Amino acid sequence: MSSVIHERAYAKVNLWLEILGRRQDGFHQLETVMHEIDLADDVQLELADDFQFHVDDATVGTGEDNLAVKALRALERAMGRKFCCHITLGKRIPAGAGLGGGSSDAAAVLRGLNRLFKLDLSVLQMEEIAGEFGSDTSFFVRGQTAMCRGRGELIEPIELNRSFFLVLVFPGIHVATGPIFQALHLTDTPQSPYDFLNGLSTNDVPVVRSSLFNRLEEAAMRVHTDLAAILGPLKSRGFIMSGSGSTMFSLTSNRRAAEKLAAAIARDLDLKTQVVLSAVR
Ligand code: C5P
Repeated sequence: MSSVIHERAYAKVNLWLEILGRRQDGFHQLETVMHEIDLADDVQLELADDFQFHVDDATVGTGEDNLAVKALRALERAMGRKFCCHITLGKRIPAGAGLGGGSSDAAAVLRGLNRLFKLDLSVLQMEEIAGEFGSDTSFFVRGQTAMCRGRGELIEPIELNRSFFLVLVFPGIHVATGPIFQALHLTDTPQSPYDFLNGLSTNDVPVVRSSLFNRLEEAAMRVHTDLAAILGPLKSRGFIMSGSGSTMFSLTSNRRAAEKLAAAIARDLDLKTQVVLSAVR
């Protein structure tokens, strides 16, 4: 039996994100298409006599607040037993960037523990456990591309028969999610994802690109005025923000176009960029 397991925890972007209302529990009713990209943290789990948690980035907390530890604790509660192991995170996904790094790490820990301890949990069971400690954690159990509703935990997978090249732009601003939701002005006339989903299902990249949408952009720019100055020039080039920010992205159908766009952004706006592909699990 292998005593060491490796899982890749992919980042996501929100290709489309609308907020339908505020709920009794204080959370918001979402309609969002999440899409995993090939930028990933590495998660290693090893059987041991005690529990230890290490992260190769000193700016990331390793206490009970870390979503990876919350995942382990939630699984321990669900199974009524302890899971002694050493978990090591290799961080590549920037934090506070709207890319879901912490949530993806947590889902990877659940998948990894399921394999390491041969628990035979189904995807649905892991999604349910993941939903206990986060809104976008459930999505990352299966990952790939999905329409997520409710708080984010109601997942409808979307089969894509193509991948995209995405240009990520990192403004280097750390955004906390809660204050962005609090600053949001709710709309009476939510956008429909119809055109966007149609573009996706017909592989029409120009339609997909022109119908990318994120309701949280406006609130994020009000809370972080420095972000507004950066997003303005990017919007006119077809970029939108991912999640509650601060990463902006655009997508193209081929690597050459993506690299050209990234180089132009780096040159004209002096911002850090990265070209990534859609993730393939
Ligand atoms: O669940 P998660 O920890 O990812 O959410 C972070 C914060 O984002 C929540 O505390 C809440 O303020 C806000 N949120 C929300 N509605 C959602 C998801 C998140 O209001 N559906």
